[in-house]
Amino acid sequence: MTERKEHAHKEHVVVNVAWPYANGPRHIGHVAGFGVPSDVFARYQRMRGADVLMVSGTDEHGTPLLVQADKEGVTVRELADRYNRQIVQDLAGLGLSYDLFTRTTTRNHYAVVQELFKGLYANGYMIKETTQGAISPSTGRTLPDRYIEGTCPLCGAEDARGDQCDNCGNQLDPVDLLNPVSKINGETPQFIETEHFLLDLPAVKDALEEWLKSRQDWRPNVLKFSLNLLEDMRPRTMSRDIDWGIPVPVEGWETNGAKKLYVWFDAVIGYLSASIEWAYRTGSPDAWKEFWQNPDAKHFYFQGKDNITFHSQIWPAELLGYAGKGSKGGAEHRLGELNLPTEIVSSEFLTMSGSKFSSSKGVVIYVKDFLAEFGPDPLRYFIAVAGPENNDTDFTWEEFVRRINNELANGWGNLVNRTVSMAHKNFGEVPVPASLEQADQRILSLAEETFATAGAALEQSKFKQAITAIMHVVGEANAYIAEMEPWKLAKDDSQRERLATVLWTALQVVSDCNVLLTPFLPFTAQKVHETLGRDGVWAAQPRVEEVSDTQPVDLVGVGLPPEGHSYPIITGDYDNQQAVWQRVDVTPGTPLAKPEPLVAKLDPELAQTGPQWAPVQ
Ligand code: MF3
Ligand code: ZN
Repeated sequence: MTERKEHAHKEHVVVNVAWPYANGPRHIGHVAGFGVPSDVFARYQRMRGADVLMVSGTDEHGTPLLVQADKEGVTVRELADRYNRQIVQDLAGLGLSYDLFTRTTTRNHYAVVQELFKGLYANGYMIKETTQGAISPSTGRTLPDRYIEGTCPLCGAEDARGDQCDNCGNQLDPVDLLNPVSKINGETPQFIETEHFLLDLPAVKDALEEWLKSRQDWRPNVLKFSLNLLEDMRPRTMSRDIDWGIPVPVEGWETNGAKKLYVWFDAVIGYLSASIEWAYRTGSPDAWKEFWQNPDAKHFYFQGKDNITFHSQIWPAELLGYAGKGSKGGAEHRLGELNLPTEIVSSEFLTMSGSKFSSSKGVVIYVKDFLAEFGPDPLRYFIAVAGPENNDTDFTWEEFVRRINNELANGWGNLVNRTVSMAHKNFGEVPVPASLEQADQRILSLAEETFATAGAALEQSKFKQAITAIMHVVGEANAYIAEMEPWKLAKDDSQRERLATVLWTALQVVSDCNVLLTPFLPFTAQKVHETLGRDGVWAAQPRVEEVSDTQPVDLVGVGLPPEGHSYPIITGDYDNQQAVWQRVDVTPGTPLAKPEPLVAKLDPELAQTGPQWAPVQ
């Protein structure tokens, strides 16, 4: 990684992106929830001048990995290594501009997680209790909460899980469920006594409530859901009877092979551990502090709706307890007082013909296949304009083809193409405008005002509203050209000045729209930048780098993975890109070449058939 520039004066924005389980390749449902929205937001924030830190990684503990490893007949470590690599390729290919995308099986992550546990324990927020644990009577193995289903004792919904009821949003313990059954093999679980550490949520309830009530601008459903969680606060188990996970850093437990920390306890700490790893890898090991300890820094969290509980309750509770900010008080520990979330931005689900995308049910469109056939920007565009921002949304090939052909190809691609073609053919460069007429001024003002309107929408993660405003300018610009008929002006020598003015105006609006579309379509934006006769990096892209696991530097951990393991990360040099969120003047005299087609049109038949690798059934 490269050394970072200091931006002490800039606003600090952390874009915390949910960590995908390394239990399979990513499908488009995943990246619609956490991937594209977070990247659009991060790119916009960088363009408007914030110092952005965007972190995530693969979530590699817990039963989702164990179950898949069993299925594939490999060790869980092999499975994690394989899918970590695959997911890194999927996300980098989509242009997701992480400062660091790492994983939860690093030495650093183990040490940071154990540091948080120890601080919580020392402050009294981790309590040891004898609990009822579910096991499978046939195998004797522990049954994870998420794999037990039954009837919710609170609302009566029949498909509640052992950790949570999605219908009423309440947290549950498996033992609470009426008629519990194991999703793995359908048997009725047996309950046995087992000792565990519980996070004392009631002790931080008041602090959580105060924080939540101070939140504004959240999507209303997310805030309502989070406030609702306060109604039923009980201690929650943060260790598990499982052999795969981070050792519990308490005497007598550290070397217990059968008990580890709960995957969600460790995964949410990933945001912090990844920030610490990022700082270490850029050569400024303390740089994470200006993002986590400086109270002016803002923290945005992007995820699917099934993750809200963990981000608006469990993670803030861990942060509050570690800082000694609950009813039990307590001291501050080594990592100091850490920032609470500014906003939890959560998406609904992308469905396919009504059912949730699911690899296990075979309802799946893999990112890898999608990228190989269509490239990143069509998927990014579709998710931004037609994704599950506020409602569960069905993906259909018909809608995909319609959006790409009508809006991206006929709308945006055509605007760029005909504007630059005509300017190239008639002038060979950006022409010098004469005095502007009302129609010219109108379209120029509309484009310029859109920086404010779309920017305000993006500040609030209203992606659909932002892209709709921008595509409105594209539509108006096409209408302007149709009305001005520059092809007619070109045939009349006495109209040369007017032709220059119309084409200059159109080029300026193309440039404006390209700036506005950059967070959404960064690959296309780079091409348009070059098509307009400019050079250098306009929109930077992430890259994959192979690194060695050599941390932690100054934390102590137990049972850490071996040193020197090699793994891929996603990172990038986003500081050196030219992209800014404002009008960039087009300069008369800039040479223009004949443009290449910008957006490939899709075969209309695809709408009915789907591609071979995901045929419409
Ligand atoms: N792996 C979880 C999922 O796919 C998300 C973890 S997000 C984090 O649902 F906060 F824990 F990092
Ligand atoms: Zn319920």
